[in-house]
Amino acid sequence: MINHPLSNLLSQTKFLENIAEQHGTPTYVYSKRRLEENISRLSSAISQSFTKHQIYYAVKANSNIQIIRTLKNEFNDLGCDCSSPGELFAASKAGLNMSDCVYTGNYESLEDLQIAYDSGAEINLDDLNSFKRLKTIGIPDYISFRLNPGKGHGQFKGIITGGKNSKFGIPKETIVEAYNVAKSSGVKKFGLQCHAGSSTLDAKTFSDITKQILKSAREIEDNLGQKLEKISIGSGFGIPYRDEEEPLDLEQLFQNTKRTFKDFYGEDNSSWPTLCIEPGRILVADTGFILTRVTGIKSSYKEFVGLDAGMETLMRPALYGAFHRVQKIGHIDENDTIIYDITGRICENTDRISEGYKMPEMKEGELCAIMDSGAYGYSMSHNFNTRPRSSEVLVDEEEVSLIRKRETIEELFRGCDV
Ligand code: LLP
Repeated sequence: MINHPLSNLLSQTKFLENIAEQHGTPTYVYSKRRLEENISRLSSAISQSFTKHQIYYAVKANSNIQIIRTLKNEFNDLGCDCSSPGELFAASKAGLNMSDCVYTGNYESLEDLQIAYDSGAEINLDDLNSFKRLKTIGIPDYISFRLNPGKGHGQFKGIITGGKNSKFGIPKETIVEAYNVAKSSGVKKFGLQCHAGSSTLDAKTFSDITKQILKSAREIEDNLGQKLEKISIGSGFGIPYRDEEEPLDLEQLFQNTKRTFKDFYGEDNSSWPTLCIEPGRILVADTGFILTRVTGIKSSYKEFVGLDAGMETLMRPALYGAFHRVQKIGHIDENDTIIYDITGRICENTDRISEGYKMPEMKEGELCAIMDSGAYGYSMSHNFNTRPRSSEVLVDEEEVSLIRKRETIEELFRGCDV
């Protein structure tokens, strides 16, 4: 059995068999308790170092309304970071005050900007041209711009969002101009935001990024002749997807951030801007797994385990080469291991959950769990091969609630004239 925060749930074979029986497979299974633990741990770590802070949950990681609501119920000061009208909708349905939310778009259409503006959320803009588009709709009192600090970080090339190859943010060389234009157009208060990459486990990386952000902040403040209200260091806070990885040291991370703030703004923290973060993965990734059934075993040039969950259910391995542990449910003979490629039923050869993965012998009909699928799992799932999307359940001790029904084939065609 793998060492994981959900190990206890994974060992409850009968309980999981009942979920599979009742809700079918694949199903995303989330632990309420783990969601609560994660938001409490993060809020305690940040509040130890920063009195003025704000946590915006990045809804893109998992937009299930009950998941957002669980986080909000546990931590009432929660805000949300939304990047589309759909994410604003989810945050609002979950009971968030829109004034506690921020809209971070990129290449936004006028319609997106209108919805963001009307929602009452703060607006974080990706470019000066975004501001010019927004100006045709209205001028908010407060805005922030997204900085591209010229370099980024991240576990895979595809999730690095800072640097010369990134489509996001405003280069540090030109960002001051954006603030000057916004100020002369009537914006009164400002913040600065940066999200330079994702899935990073090394606390030091965040110190480097924070220094870059504060350097730009100083330049902006000097030019505008006024203080920034908020600094968002985005997120990118990683989780251990592998047995041998250590969790990110959050206390350390915020202590380092505090030291950097002190260096820039001095000892008196009442004059510091509010520190904002936009965590997605670290709050939800390890709270969920995909409960899936083996649908086919095949001995070819390689040994294959075929599951009813494939790249349409969890896209990360096919898209980035991401690694997720797979745990067999039920009787496990640890000595009896085989090297498998774990795949789904999709007609693409990139359809892999894992390649060369060592597992106990698997048989058709058996259940397994694809771990750490709570972030960027369901939210990136899709309908390729005309497969309806999975159901989602939330486990609260003995209680299991269906928090999203499985899609049906008919629903996939509801917009068509059939
Ligand atoms: N803030 C902004 C502006 C973001 O773009 C993102 C993620 C976050 C916050 C949350 O980052 P996190 O806490 O999850 O690192 N689909 C990829 C991850 C892409 C993240 C994109 N932006 C994956 O499956 O790993």
